[in-house]
Amino acid sequence: MKSDSPFVPYLATLQDSIDLTPDVRLFRIEIDDPEVRANFDYSPGQFIFVSAFGTGESPFGLTSVAYRKGPLEVAVRKVGTVTGSLHELEPGAAVGVRGPFGNHFPLDEFKGKNVHIIGGGIGFAPLRPVILTILDHRADYGELLIINGARTPQDLVFASEFDTWAGSPKTKLELTVDAGDKSWTGRVALIPSVVKELNLSPDNAVAVICGPPIMIHFTLIELKKLGFGDNQIVTTLEGKMKCGLGKCARCNVGEKYICKDGPVFTLEQISKLLEQF
Ligand SMILES: Cc1cc2nc3c(=O)[nH]c(=O)nc-3n(C[C@H](O)[C@H](O)[C@H](O)COP(=O)(O)OP(=O)(O)OC[C@H]3O[C@@H](n4cnc5c(N)ncnc54)[C@H](O)[C@@H]3O)c2cc1C
Ligand code: FES
Repeated sequence: MKSDSPFVPYLATLQDSIDLTPDVRLFRIEIDDPEVRANFDYSPGQFIFVSAFGTGESPFGLTSVAYRKGPLEVAVRKVGTVTGSLHELEPGAAVGVRGPFGNHFPLDEFKGKNVHIIGGGIGFAPLRPVILTILDHRADYGELLIINGARTPQDLVFASEFDTWAGSPKTKLELTVDAGDKSWTGRVALIPSVVKELNLSPDNAVAVICGPPIMIHFTLIELKKLGFGDNQIVTTLEGKMKCGLGKCARCNVGEKYICKDGPVFTLEQISKLLEQF
């Protein structure tokens, strides 16, 4: 069924889902209407609402890239009612999709620069399409450093892709956990400490950060100490959302709506927004 209202979800089908961690599952979703599916264009950083019929809908960052023409992919952490219902669904189940919503990471502005990708926990999910875009257009960008952190080794998302990323040209992958286990031989450190230890260079560079607010807060402090300017730091804001369209005023920060003007902002833009309070 084709939807003429942005409030009415497109009917879609869950192709399959795979466990990324004990509480995060990757959902591959195909919109049923072939015309809508073919025209559903989106960019890294944008999000969709996915409905579990009979329960409700929630926003999720897209982890796929549109130019690969595959299904829509979202990584969903099970935290409550809607996410719990989505985790119960079997392949072939009907779901709803609204979107795509929001702005996107300014990948054109990243061209020719070194890109530091810094993600923690489920916050790493919307960074995957940034990584895929850079790796698929490798000559357009400088060095790529990926820092992926989680509470435990089992909580690191997209582990099956680590070897590919680490083996790509001009690319370095740093994994870190808050607490290791017997089999973990990698770093045991919080992300801000890793940023400090690696002594990230701000020269011709941009840092892209997603994760829990506490991680973002302390990572920003380290990046500022290393000399990164506010316009060299890009992050995402989250908020309670209902419409995704800038209509319901659930997600505003000052005069901006996170759902429409964001969720991607430079630190420079966020600082200006906070001045309004
Ligand atoms: C733009 C945007 C992109 C997002 N992308 C992702 C994503 O890629 N993957 C993912 O797993 N989640 C993502 N989220 C968060 C996701 O939307 C919420 O976890 C989800 O709406 C919770 O719904 P629920 O009914 O399962 O939980 P509820 O039953 O409503 O709540 C359960 C618990 O989760 C908390 N909670 C509810 N909403 C949020 C929220 N927005 N952020 C943090 N905690 C929340 C509640 O306070 C409560 O403690 C995103 C949110 C936004 C706004
Ligand atoms: S979610 Fe309604 S205004 Fe942003």
